[in-house]
Amino acid sequence: MPYVLGIDVGTSRTAAAVCRQTGSTWADAEIVQLGTHAPEVPTVLYFAADGGILVGDTAQQHAITDPANAARGFARRVGDDVPVMVGRETCAAEELTAVLVAWVVNTVNAAEGAAPQHIVLTHPAGWGGYRRRMLLRALRQANLDNVTLLPEPVAVGESHAAGHDVVAGQALAVYDLGAGSLSSAVVRRSPAGTFELLTSAESVEPNGGDSFDDIVFEHIRAVVEVDMTDPHVWTTLTRLRQMCTQAKEFLSTGGETSVREIRVTRTEFEDLIRPAVEAGIEELLRTIRSAPVPAEDLASVVITGGSASIPLVSELLTAQLRNRTVLAPDFTCARGAAIAARSLVPARRTEVVPVPAPATEPPPPDRPDVDLTPLDLPATRSFMRMIGVNRGVAGAAAGVVLAAGVALTFYLRPDAPSQPAPVHAVVASTSSTSTQTQQTGEGGR
Ligand SMILES: Nc1ncnc2c1ncn2[C@@H]1O[C@H](COP(=O)(O)OP(=O)(O)OP(=O)(O)O)[C@@H](O)[C@H]1O
Ligand SMILES: [Mg+2]
Repeated sequence: MPYVLGIDVGTSRTAAAVCRQTGSTWADAEIVQLGTHAPEVPTVLYFAADGGILVGDTAQQHAITDPANAARGFARRVGDDVPVMVGRETCAAEELTAVLVAWVVNTVNAAEGAAPQHIVLTHPAGWGGYRRRMLLRALRQANLDNVTLLPEPVAVGESHAAGHDVVAGQALAVYDLGAGSLSSAVVRRSPAGTFELLTSAESVEPNGGDSFDDIVFEHIRAVVEVDMTDPHVWTTLTRLRQMCTQAKEFLSTGGETSVREIRVTRTEFEDLIRPAVEAGIEELLRTIRSAPVPAEDLASVVITGGSASIPLVSELLTAQLRNRTVLAPDFTCARGAAIAARSLVPARRTEVVPVPAPATEPPPPDRPDVDLTPLDLPATRSFMRMIGVNRGVAGAAAGVVLAAGVALTFYLRPDAPSQPAPVHAVVASTSSTSTQTQQTGEGGR
């Protein structure tokens, strides 16, 4: 059955959703099972000693005992000049992200029995053209040519509008409390039914699930003795931090729990994180004030992100914004990405591009022989070898390349990456999004 795929690669979790086509209509977005026990997988890669790369749950298991060969936290570092060190290897964050996306596409392809008609991948609202181009280039190298990039708050708007009335001209504020950061944004529905990003901000101070884990971890570490001379101390600390994360998540529904027999109550936890949550709400209010929309045009404040499950978050937000808040279901970004992908498929078309005449160049001059002493650099895992983690992906992706022409519709952006010189008369193109972005903290990259 034809389908489109939405993917959200977050700092800590990666989720995907599909919309299947039945006859001439598209079904609602459905979350795909990527993990062994959960719909999502951790955003983790593990470089195994045999050269292979493990992804998600299995990578996470290996990362506990061998953190040096694991990569995490790379998704928001796309386009960074400083590469990610994994073991002795250096990797670009966009290449690691492309490996993960290729694995997701392959996993969904295997489950659905076919390649997606189109893929929409979400990205932080503050990314400029440079980061988007770097990611699209890495995706193309992974044979993923039919990907459209979409800012996360726009995906949240798409998902929200699928279940609520949002008329053209109405705006939504988005409060996304994930693992790595708090993102706040205002999006507005256009007459065409899509959303434009009016303004966005990302917390400068650590403010998100990871920092809440740190707070609980510090609270426990103040009491629990850890032998720092133990050669396995990193494994011990990694496990202890994981217990803190589990305790934090449990406290969203339970009243108290314990970590290594130290009791933590929900009230204690809330007191610990309250200043950070209040600072985040101030940030949201600043973002709303900076948006060029009158207050009455703001239909709702959509609360999303895994950390929004903490009851204190919606309590404080609702107290500030009264009845305008709506708590979105989990994996809203992935759902919205799949919904946006639906609207890209009907407009599918290919573009005829004339083949350029080969330039006549003079032959290169003779060069003198040069003796080179090779540098002693650590072995690198080439990107294409990394992509070899998903042998099926190339074939799967090749089957969907022709669908890429759809990217020329609603979310097309003038700064789409420059294409390599076309060698066929009919080419497919890869696009980005049509949104206005307030650059926050990344110098417009
Ligand atoms: N029930 C829960 N209670 C509290 N926190 C939770 C709960 N479920 C998940 N989380 C936290 O939500 C965070 C993951 O949320 P989400 O998937 O939205 O983040 P992300 O997209 O990976 O990160 P980011 O958007 O910052 O890049 C983690 O810190 C996780 O511990
Ligand atoms: Mg997220």
